[in-house]
Amino acid sequence: MKALVTYYSDTGNTKKLAEAIYEGIKEAKKDIMPIAEVGAVDEYDVLFCGFPVQARSVPGKVASFIKKLPEGTNIAFFATHGSMRGGELAVEAFYAANQLAASLNILGTFGCRGQVKDSIIESLMKKAEHKPWAQEAQSAAGHPDQGDLEDAGAFANAMITKVRSL
Ligand SMILES: Cc1cc2nc3c(=O)[nH]c(=O)nc-3n(C[C@H](O)[C@H](O)[C@H](O)COP(=O)(O)O)c2cc1C
Repeated sequence: MKALVTYYSDTGNTKKLAEAIYEGIKEAKKDIMPIAEVGAVDEYDVLFCGFPVQARSVPGKVASFIKKLPEGTNIAFFATHGSMRGGELAVEAFYAANQLAASLNILGTFGCRGQVKDSIIESLMKKAEHKPWAQEAQSAAGHPDQGDLEDAGAFANAMITKVRSL
């Protein structure tokens, strides 16, 4: 059993989650690297693919990566987002990821909040249509926190158990 944890992260939140997932994988060989460094994936039994939710969706670089994966690849998605856990913006992004991965074997998804850069919140606050979102995003400060990282580790193990049962 060999797992690859790969991620894209602008400000480090998704990278933290990736590291917690990597640490959480027990009794399996494992690698961790940014998406930009991934070559062939045939040696892996499962991929954990992480991204920050951007504009309610998957960042372009991550979308291209997902689209190029071999058919039937076992994949688990994880993401950080400024909006509330389980909220519309995060759900839409996972929906987009699942659509991109239509030919893959999706094992599960994990999301938690991720602190939003002050500069982003300030610029969003100035536009009436973005203000509600910017206000919601403020309470993501301090995330991912210890609890989020522990949940991510548990998610990692649940996914590994799932692959073993295939
Ligand atoms: C350009 C941009 C767009 C974003 N759009 C959303 C969004 O639509 N919904 C959301 O919940 N968070 C959004 N965020 C917040 C990020 O998803 C959040 O801060 C995330 O944790 C950043 O992860 P990173 O540090 O790995 O880059 C956005 C952030 C940026 C920079």
